[in-house]
Amino acid sequence: MNHSPEPFDMQRLTRRFHEQFGKTGPAGPSVFHAPGRVNLIGEHTDYTGGMVFPCAIDRGNLMLVRRTGNDQFRFASTNFDLMAQLSKDEIGQTYGDSWINYPLGVIDQFRIRGLKLDGLDCLYSGNVPNGAGLSSSASIEVVTAFAINELYGFGLDRMELVKMSQAAENDFVGMQCGIMDQFAVTMGLEDHAMMLNCDTLEYRQVPLVLGDFAIVLANTNQRRELNESAYNDRVSECARALGYVQQTLNVPTLGALSEAELESVKTSFADDDIAYRRAKHICTENARVNAAVIALENSDLQTFGKLMQASHTSLKDDFSVSSPPLNALVSLAMEHPDVLGSRLTGAGFGGCTVNLLSNSAVDSFQQVVGERYRDATGLTADFYSIRPSNGAEEYPQ
Ligand code: GLA
Repeated sequence: MNHSPEPFDMQRLTRRFHEQFGKTGPAGPSVFHAPGRVNLIGEHTDYTGGMVFPCAIDRGNLMLVRRTGNDQFRFASTNFDLMAQLSKDEIGQTYGDSWINYPLGVIDQFRIRGLKLDGLDCLYSGNVPNGAGLSSSASIEVVTAFAINELYGFGLDRMELVKMSQAAENDFVGMQCGIMDQFAVTMGLEDHAMMLNCDTLEYRQVPLVLGDFAIVLANTNQRRELNESAYNDRVSECARALGYVQQTLNVPTLGALSEAELESVKTSFADDDIAYRRAKHICTENARVNAAVIALENSDLQTFGKLMQASHTSLKDDFSVSSPPLNALVSLAMEHPDVLGSRLTGAGFGGCTVNLLSNSAVDSFQQVVGERYRDATGLTADFYSIRPSNGAEEYPQ
């Protein structure tokens, strides 16, 4: 089991920063951190104005950064070989389809707001597994937005940084994601999960009191393909579904629709069964988020686990974002007697499952489920035990 990750080795990273970008002046770079996130329940609801319930995790991205004052922007990472040096005139364009587009997209948002930057040296180092659905990209976006806001003293509030990071992803990277990931990695609070209404952006920090239970993530390690286009397809299918509903009902978003209301306008969908099933997932999932938070607050983790289960079934059957490896991991988890709930988390099509299980069973869970998963799929899963953590912050040195 991968328990808490090793702390970042600041001496090594500072040395790497200086090797990469040279040493100017006695001061070292400033250091900022943003976590990854896991969504406990409320999947694919964010871009329909629905409810989500994520928490930030104790894995994330560190950014060592200094202003250069010479209109040059340099980017490097300990996780990727690709580096880039771009002048001020070049930073408004995408850089192939590389990771550098995440910081570039954020920098573009400062430009759009008329906030001028005069060059930066940036070194990133992360311990969120890439492509695992734990928002490593949102973490890079948010740490960049947070760091620039601090370094330049722009005084933007956290919600603005969330919106800028989401816009970077939507407008620059081209992924039509909702607001959940950037929100969770910015607003995270230790030992809490956040119940967020993605329409009004009202939110509540809910203590994640698990008692004798633990949250364990299981990574399918399935190669994710067509992830982005399938995701964008779901966004447009939901928009289409809203169009049918609005022929009869005056609702602003799918997220505001109850299951009973959806049933009442079923005939408007004519024979567009796909759009109907997408809408059905959104309605039932929103109800599950509300019920799950109540269950958690009543220390009724059995019910919370059942809602996780129902969420997975709905994502698999109605929303069609699961995959055979994800379904295998969920079914094998549920065969374990000490597991209360298991579901895919994040966008789906691969990535991780989130599991709620007895503390005492964490090791046997990893062993038994890991072995059976290998037998069933030929893939090796990774397991991470997580702790709900703080959002973006200056990194204590
Ligand atoms: C990705 C997106 C989020 C959200 C989830 C699914 O993580 O970035 O906005 O839509 O998928 O819940």
